[in-house]
Amino acid sequence: MGVDKITGEARNITAKISEHYVDNARKLPWRIPPQLSASGILPDPYHVWLSEVMLQQTTVAAVIAYFKTFTARWPTAADLAAAEETEVLAAWAGLGYYARARNLHKCARHVAGALGGSFPERETELLKLPGVGAYTAAAIAAIAFGRRAVVVDANIERLAARLFAIATPLPGGKADIRSAMDALTPEVGAGDFAQACMDIGATICTAKSPKCGICPVQMHCAAYAQGDQESYPVKPPKKAKPLRKGRFFWIEQGGQLLLVTRPSKGMLGSMRALPDDGWAASTNGHGEPPLNGDWQVHENVVQHSFTHFSLEVDVAVYQGDMIAINKCDNDKCGNDKNDKGQAGLGNAIWWPIDGIEDAGLPTLFTKAVRWAVKRKREV
Ligand code: ADE
Repeated sequence: MGVDKITGEARNITAKISEHYVDNARKLPWRIPPQLSASGILPDPYHVWLSEVMLQQTTVAAVIAYFKTFTARWPTAADLAAAEETEVLAAWAGLGYYARARNLHKCARHVAGALGGSFPERETELLKLPGVGAYTAAAIAAIAFGRRAVVVDANIERLAARLFAIATPLPGGKADIRSAMDALTPEVGAGDFAQACMDIGATICTAKSPKCGICPVQMHCAAYAQGDQESYPVKPPKKAKPLRKGRFFWIEQGGQLLLVTRPSKGMLGSMRALPDDGWAASTNGHGEPPLNGDWQVHENVVQHSFTHFSLEVDVAVYQGDMIAINKCDNDKCGNDKNDKGQAGLGNAIWWPIDGIEDAGLPTLFTKAVRWAVKRKREV
């Protein structure tokens, strides 16, 4: 069915999706249950903003624990603003896409400072905040402030593409999908409607094996009528990701591991990490260690997939004499790259291996730590 034909059916579809939400809404810690939101109670905008930023490119299941930790530790935007960036980055460790955490902190400081502690209500104003794009602005305006906004995330995209059999491959099909959602979005209750669509997309209208038998809008679904649900949304052919090689350097003594802080600019900027050989999205690392001495190299022990490239990592274990590393008190030395693109050891610190989960390492480095700990148990 073409998007131009949907207006007649829109009211029925919207009503069925909204009714389904009343009894089937997922209980999520940032949500107000539909029974309460129907009487005009809205969730805390700080909770909505925080959850929506965390949910960008991350599943609900992964976000719940982080959301609870963040709100317990920093109950308001002002509390988050008062934290150090490194603390926020460490608390974010494991969620990935760390630019989100830096923007989150920047945004909290802006809201707590220039905006006097309140989030703006309108999409156009929300869009000006660091880390808030079109999707997030619409979601916050609708969910936190009850404004009519057209919310389209990946789950909603799939639901709309199937309902209306939108055959234009993404990203070209996004305009039709948005028009479809515009036709469906109610004047009142756009936030719950969006969350109702997200829930159907996540639990019923799933990418594989959709549960059409329990879908409240099955009788309106053009893809179901065609018997071709899994073909929608139509995706462009996948591009092969380039493969990069890198090396981590494992320097351990007395149960402690040497960690560095990565340069503030670039991938995983300002995060604590193992020393490495300067690998990047566009180049392999050079393989050279940051210290002279003997190294035992274990090849390809970590594989990691970033959005635009895959990385295979060797781990080189230091076999040399005990070394003295003094914490550098000059901020600059830690963030400098040496002439090989490596973070220097200037800001290195020793971290107890049995408390390594508190170091806030990105997942890529946690994989190497897990490998090393397992290997030690086996040797
Ligand atoms: N994904 C993004 N935002 C969401 C929300 N508010 N509820 C459930 N899933 C989501």
